[in-house]
Amino acid sequence: MSAKVIDGKAFAGKLRAKIASHVARLRDETGVVPGLAVVLVGEDAASQVYVRNKGIQTVAVGMASYEHKLPAEASESQLLALIADLNADRSVHGILVQLPLPAHIDAGAVINAIDPRKDVDGFHVTNVGLLATGQRSMVPCTPLGCLMMLRDHFGSLRGRTAVVVGRSNIVGKPMAQLLLRDDCSVTIVHRHSLGMAEICRRADILVTAVGQPEMFDASYVKPGAVVIDVGINRIERDGRSKLVGDVNFADVANIAGAITPVPGGVGPMTIACLLANTLTAYCRAHD
Ligand code: GUN
Repeated sequence: MSAKVIDGKAFAGKLRAKIASHVARLRDETGVVPGLAVVLVGEDAASQVYVRNKGIQTVAVGMASYEHKLPAEASESQLLALIADLNADRSVHGILVQLPLPAHIDAGAVINAIDPRKDVDGFHVTNVGLLATGQRSMVPCTPLGCLMMLRDHFGSLRGRTAVVVGRSNIVGKPMAQLLLRDDCSVTIVHRHSLGMAEICRRADILVTAVGQPEMFDASYVKPGAVVIDVGINRIERDGRSKLVGDVNFADVANIAGAITPVPGGVGPMTIACLLANTLTAYCRAHD
């Protein structure tokens, strides 16, 4: 293996420590701490784990954590009423509605009911538009975490060729916007792209967000490229359950210049960036 392994866990730990010291100063100066409300509808096991982790990490940096759990059969109007309350609540600076929502609820309508200034996921159409037009917005947490690690590695991203694989609203599209904003030449590829490996091999920066276990081997990677693996896929191997990324780590680590591991790469940065966004929302509310 020749690639540098980008340690997202350590990076996230440092970011949380910075956030915690900022929050402590705000608490001492104003008596008010940032508050994050997380809304969970239903019993989805993975979502329950995420929400619990978010709550623990929110409290650990000194912020207030508010958890709202609604039953799976809660109506859309019940959820919208809760969001209206959270929008009006001055102790709540960030609101996150855990996705996926039950099928009978229109997730788009719910997300767009959140006050865009409290939309710490950066999914509200106002924030999507602000980001796309290069204006101040809330930025989705996973791509923000990727960007921070890339800036840390490169210093400036200006002029680099970046390829983003995946075109989701949560990762692929905002990732491409952020790289463009940092003056990269950006290509998005997806399941219908022809010649995907050849396009990927042009990238100085390759970001994979497709949810296909170990799909990307060395044939997709230019020697020396920086590979950011957003995929978190659970597989069975040797009779054991294991988390792997979209990238075949062992193979790509022989050719890449740097690579994020799974677990311990992008994943820990996502919650740290959620806390960073909550702090940002607080600071803008108190501007
Ligand atoms: N479910 C999985 N990832 C996310 C995320 O980033 N935000 C929200 N709200 N729900 C999710």
